[in-house]
Amino acid sequence: MLSHDVLIVGSGLAGLRAAYEVVGHLDVAVMTKVYPSRSHSGAAQGGVAAALANVDGDSIEAHTYDTVKGADFLGDQDSIEILCGDAPRTIIEMEHLGCAFSRTSENKIAQRAFGGHSFNRACYSADRTGHALLHTLFEQSMKLGGSLQVYSEWYVVRLVIEDGICRGVVAMDIKTGRLETFHAKTVMFGTGGYGRAFKITSNAYANTGDGIVAAYRAGVPLQDMEFVQYHPTGLYQHGILLSEAARGEGGYLLNGDEERFMQKYAPSKMELGPRDIVSRSEQTEINEGRGAWPKKDYVLLDLRHLGKDKIMEKLPQIYHLAKDFIGVDAITDPVPIQPTAHYSMGGIPTDNDCQVYLDENGARITGFFAAGECACVSVHGANRLGTNSLLEALVFGRRAGKKMLEATRETDWSPLNEKAELAAARLEIDELVHTKATESLADIREELKTTMTNQVGVYRNGDDMESAAEKITELQDRFTRVKVSDKGKNFNTNLIETLELSHMLEYSELIVAGALARKESRGAHSRTDYPKRDDENWMRHTMAFRQEDGGYELRYKPVKITRYQPEERKY
Ligand code: FUM
Repeated sequence: MLSHDVLIVGSGLAGLRAAYEVVGHLDVAVMTKVYPSRSHSGAAQGGVAAALANVDGDSIEAHTYDTVKGADFLGDQDSIEILCGDAPRTIIEMEHLGCAFSRTSENKIAQRAFGGHSFNRACYSADRTGHALLHTLFEQSMKLGGSLQVYSEWYVVRLVIEDGICRGVVAMDIKTGRLETFHAKTVMFGTGGYGRAFKITSNAYANTGDGIVAAYRAGVPLQDMEFVQYHPTGLYQHGILLSEAARGEGGYLLNGDEERFMQKYAPSKMELGPRDIVSRSEQTEINEGRGAWPKKDYVLLDLRHLGKDKIMEKLPQIYHLAKDFIGVDAITDPVPIQPTAHYSMGGIPTDNDCQVYLDENGARITGFFAAGECACVSVHGANRLGTNSLLEALVFGRRAGKKMLEATRETDWSPLNEKAELAAARLEIDELVHTKATESLADIREELKTTMTNQVGVYRNGDDMESAAEKITELQDRFTRVKVSDKGKNFNTNLIETLELSHMLEYSELIVAGALARKESRGAHSRTDYPKRDDENWMRHTMAFRQEDGGYELRYKPVKITRYQPEERKY
């Protein structure tokens, strides 16, 4: 058995920012199924939000209000106040740590427009902002030295919570297949989102919701799982993110008739409306036959008028993605795009210090923390504003680190039954590997993803989601006979993908269950059979609890309102 005072699972911005706070004070380890610099935070492109004093008229209050409104009033306002209030300090801190932000001609940090924000407040590094932030934090954590142990290419199989106390994890060394128990006084998850259950997604292959399902299986409820954000500009058929920065820099959205259709849907914000509204507008154009040729199943991102110099200076990654993946030169041609599953608003419920809740009444789990996309604190409510995700990971990663430092120092070791935990993990894996199975992993996964994109997508309705729920039940049954062809130990990616698929099936059931139960439209959850927001009945967070038989129960808890009463959301 290995042991560390603090074990952080996930090496994206939230995990590394938390580690940075603790390293040098306690024995801390970071575990990741990839290599830290390959974490999905690095894929965030367009910026990180803060009301710096660089832009006339902007304020923390304006950022807070924009975020509350963007969230369609489902975000917890006390948490949003913390997020926006700490943003300027966070940016300056990251700059001082060495992050190379793009600059204005006066050498201030440059800020661009982003959807749903009423001022230019996205601080950026061209269109590679997440990459720049992630590398900065990784370098700085490494520089702090010896006391940060990194377990790269380790995969968590079980989270151990007993009697309301988190005691560690069981994880597999992907390189050798060895199972190992990690005993810790405090565990934090910064394990990312769950977008891979969708066929068209901007998410990395790693984003299979492993952390949230490990927590759920250990008895932690999951919050607001039905809220999945569709980003308006996914590269056609691939879903790869083409940053909203393209529109922040002046890019247009055109339908097949070359019309700037956002005029009809968000006349004051146009292409810079919030993501839920822009994605729905695109989908409406496509559904009503105004998509672009030949199949009319996409719309267009037009950057031509920006000119080569601006595109190559501000949006170089977008240029290369369009060129390399679909052969379109954005300098001379509009780029085919479609909405893509991008961000998981739901996840592991936490308080403002990232300590994980055990129930809807505020009981907490001792020694278990979560931050970043896997967590639901909830600052994004029903719809996240672009650039608030990197900010959340940095602000709440730091808060988690501070609180863990304090809590771990005050905590004694709770026993962990190594033998029993290892045996349970081994049994789960042996059952998968040695079963005389016939079902194809690839088929089940493909059918799940197609179902989620087609039936639980930008627009939803009861009939489609009922049929998605039935399909998921069928796939879960077929999964019990899934074939793991590779029986080996070293780098058994076949086994890892099977474990990931079991997670995708489990949380997809909760996305659909929460969405079916929520009989209203709010933020990214848009039902054609319940097209209106219903504050009287649905101004509340969904909490899904796992039952002994593997089923779920949904309960609810109120949204925290501080300053802003719900009002109609117009742009
Ligand atoms: O469009 C983007 O650059 C994505 C940013 C975000 O999701 O915050």
